[in-house]
Amino acid sequence: MNRFDTIIRGGTVVTAADTFKSDVAIKGGRIVALGLDLGEAETVLDATDKLVLPGGIDSHVHLAQPQASGVVIADDFLTGTRSAAFGGNTTVLPFCLQEKGQSLREAVKAYHAEAEGRCFVDVSFHLIISDPTEQVLGQELPALIEAGYTSFKVFMTYDGLALTDWQMLDVMAVARETGALVMVHAENYDAIRFLTDRLEKAGKTAPKYHAASRPIPVEREATHRAISLAELSDVPVMIVHVSNREAMEEIRRAQTKGLKVFGETCPQYLVLTERDLDKIDMEGAKFVCSPPPRDNESQVACWEGLQQGVFSVFSSDHCPYRYEGDAGKQLPKGKSSFRWVPNGIPGIAARLPILFSEGVVKGRIDLNRFVALSATNHAKTYGLYPRKGTIAVGSDADIAIWDPELKQTLSHTMLHDGCDYSPYEGLEITGWPVLTMVRGTIVVRNGALVGTPRHGEYLPREKSALAQDGGRNRR
Ligand code: URP
Ligand code: ZN
Ligand code: ZN
Repeated sequence: MNRFDTIIRGGTVVTAADTFKSDVAIKGGRIVALGLDLGEAETVLDATDKLVLPGGIDSHVHLAQPQASGVVIADDFLTGTRSAAFGGNTTVLPFCLQEKGQSLREAVKAYHAEAEGRCFVDVSFHLIISDPTEQVLGQELPALIEAGYTSFKVFMTYDGLALTDWQMLDVMAVARETGALVMVHAENYDAIRFLTDRLEKAGKTAPKYHAASRPIPVEREATHRAISLAELSDVPVMIVHVSNREAMEEIRRAQTKGLKVFGETCPQYLVLTERDLDKIDMEGAKFVCSPPPRDNESQVACWEGLQQGVFSVFSSDHCPYRYEGDAGKQLPKGKSSFRWVPNGIPGIAARLPILFSEGVVKGRIDLNRFVALSATNHAKTYGLYPRKGTIAVGSDADIAIWDPELKQTLSHTMLHDGCDYSPYEGLEITGWPVLTMVRGTIVVRNGALVGTPRHGEYLPREKSALAQDGGRNRR
């Protein structure tokens, strides 16, 4: 009998710290040896001229999420995790949404039922707290955090989701007690409502006015406020989907002060701008997400945030709605005003090819930073490291083999999600994952799905190492 199940031979292994020529031996779903001349295995995968990277971890995706009446999200666990695998991902972290009036435990139970037997890659859940009742704050949330749901998101905007500052302080107090990590969607709710009303009264209702309804100060102010509330509460905080320099500089300032404030940005803020929303009829709706894509200077700022470590994670914020039909981007009400266009765009498969092509190939970031931003930092931030997010003896064999030279024009047909368009259609991409393996089992190979939806596992998580001992770096 061979010593190993699989050997990946002849490739260049890249971690967040090192780049080296090594074979990778796998047994029982784990990496068991690294080195050259490791001997024989049941299966040998040739990775000559290829990069052998930790499988991507996308820590910000929306799958099978309950929606406003008449709206349907385009991906469930089956299609969302399938698309994730095509994009070189091996773990995704979607959000389990508590609807107003709903028990958090019930929401979690229902979300597990959605995921059961329908995951091509591994999954773990963040919570979304929309109704921080006494029951939630005193019992359900602390118990769920102890059970491995160790991070939760709160919203400062959106009808039905926005928390008041008081409520933010309430949930942050629970995070302080328990060591959970708070993720914040930072936009000023009242300012958006005010501006939306004004725009509508002026007849400015086309999708492009979505961007005008939530300009940069809306995001900057809320980012500042979220950081201040976290500082008051002495908790770490992750500001998600940051779109521009002013919000990025708020995060940098807090980090310079020694606060544990973390930042995330996404592909839409690197390669799209507000101009993409300005298309005829409803075409601009394909780019409606919040915060909206900004301008070229904001793209430069987001790259700086990635290069300089202000942003430690790069996620997709995959939140897909179909363009055709009545339940997505062309919701009948949405045609009357941008206010009703469902917010969110797909990106779960495109995230890493975009970061690789625009980042590594164009010389903006090196390969090690690519790995940190795409996998390792997600695992460290959300309590999955070192089981996930690296290539090391003892870690799960979650691996993506990349062809760094492969040139393709991005098209929706390559992504295999449940949506019917990609906002990144037509982008010229160099570099693509040609094989994705989850715990030693190949899920996607050379553009073909070979995995099964029963293979993906649910992962309870440790508390984030970054979220212990309060919100300030102790000196
Ligand atoms: O527009 C967006 N980002 N939709 C997804 C929900 C969220 O705020 O993350
Ligand atoms: Zn958000
Ligand atoms: Zn999101």
